[in-house]
This record gives sequence, C-alpha cells and structure tokens, in this order.
Amino acid sequence: MTTIRPATPDDAPRIAEVWEIAWLEAHLGHVPDELVALRDSDSFRTRAAGMIDRTLVAEVDGVVVGFVTLKGDELEQLFVDASARGTGVARDLLAEGARWLLEAGHPQPWLAVATGNARARRFYEREGWRDAGHISYASPVDGGVIPVSGHRYELILPQ
Ligand SMILES: CC(C)(COP(=O)(O)OP(=O)(O)OC[C@H]1O[C@@H](n2cnc3c(N)ncnc32)[C@H](O)[C@@H]1OP(=O)(O)O)[C@@H](O)C(=O)NCCC(=O)NCCS
Repeated sequence: MTTIRPATPDDAPRIAEVWEIAWLEAHLGHVPDELVALRDSDSFRTRAAGMIDRTLVAEVDGVVVGFVTLKGDELEQLFVDASARGTGVARDLLAEGARWLLEAGHPQPWLAVATGNARARRFYEREGWRDAGHISYASPVDGGVIPVSGHRYELILPQ
C-alpha cells in the first residue's frame, strides 16, 4: 500500500539516494555536462536535507520510493525509484503535490521538465497537465544557476 506523507529529517538520506539515481537516469544527455558534473552525491544529500520541510514522500511497505517538493507555486521536484515506476506511485505524488499547492492558495500550479525527458512529459500530459511552452529553467548550483532547456507544464484546472 502507498502512503503519501510529509517528509521528516530522517528521510533525507533515502530521498537523496532516490533522487540521485533517478535524476541521472532522466537527465544525462538532456542537460549541460557542467550541471551533471556538479550534481555529485554530496550535492543531492545537502539539497534533500535543505528542502525537507517542503517535501512529501511516498512509502510502499515502509520504504520511501519517491518524493515531490513544492516551492511557491511550483511543483519543483518529482522523482520515483525505478522499482515503483508504472505503479501509480508517481500519479499519487503528483496529485497530492498539486492539491497542496492549490490549498496553499496558488491558483496555477506549474512545473518544469527537461525538453528531452520524454517519459516524464508523457506522464504529465496523461495526468492532466498541459505543455505551456519552452522555457530556460534556472537550475540552482552553488553560487549561481545553470540554464537548462525545458518546458513549462501547467495543471489544467476545471473551468
Ligand atoms: C517521471 C516519472 C515520475 C513518471 O512516473 P512513472 O511511474 O514512470 O509514470 P508512468 O509509467 O505511469 O507513465 C509514464 C508514461 O511514459 C511512457 N514511457 C515509459 N517509458 C518511456 C520512455 N522511455 N520514453 C517515452 N515514454 C515512456 C509510459 O508508457 C507512460 O505512458 P502511457 O501511460 O501513455 O503508456 C518517473 O518515471 C520518474 O521518476 N522518472 C525519473 C525522474 C524524472 O524524470 N522525474 C521528473 C523530472 S521533471
């Protein structure tokens, strides 16, 4: 059974582990090499710990298999372990993340996805988000940002 719950500091190492592997799988070849070089294990651990109070995790049988983070009106990160893909865990995390954003008073939740991340784009479109066009996404790194070619997706809201 899948449980979605707010993350606690104890979850940070597991979140970092899921994030690092899934990020590399989804982004190698689709983001600048300079960004890949900076995304080492330490960077995922530090960033996971720093955003824990705005993270929801999905647990299956007591093991964290995915997470979503929220930042302002943005659904910022959504990553699911390969073992849980195609199972509905990602759908549940996405829906819960969108619900939190709407309940926090953000009328138009959005997210960014790397242009070349075909699986994620197909997933978002299937789950009721629309491609709102190309963006240059500012990926945060120590001391600045690195631009990544991406697409903005917006949650389709009831009329
Ligand atoms: C993106 C992600 C959250 C989606 O969750 P998921 O459980 O894999 O999603 P699903 O399997 O339900 O749906 C994926 C869709 O892509 C399709 N798909 C699977 N592999 C694919 C591939 N290599 N290329 C294109 N489409 C693919 C699936 O068939 C499915 O589409 P369908 O329902 O129309 O058949 C998950 O794959 C993931 O964590 N990926 C790695 C990290 C990532 O990319 N995060 C998003 C960053 S913006």
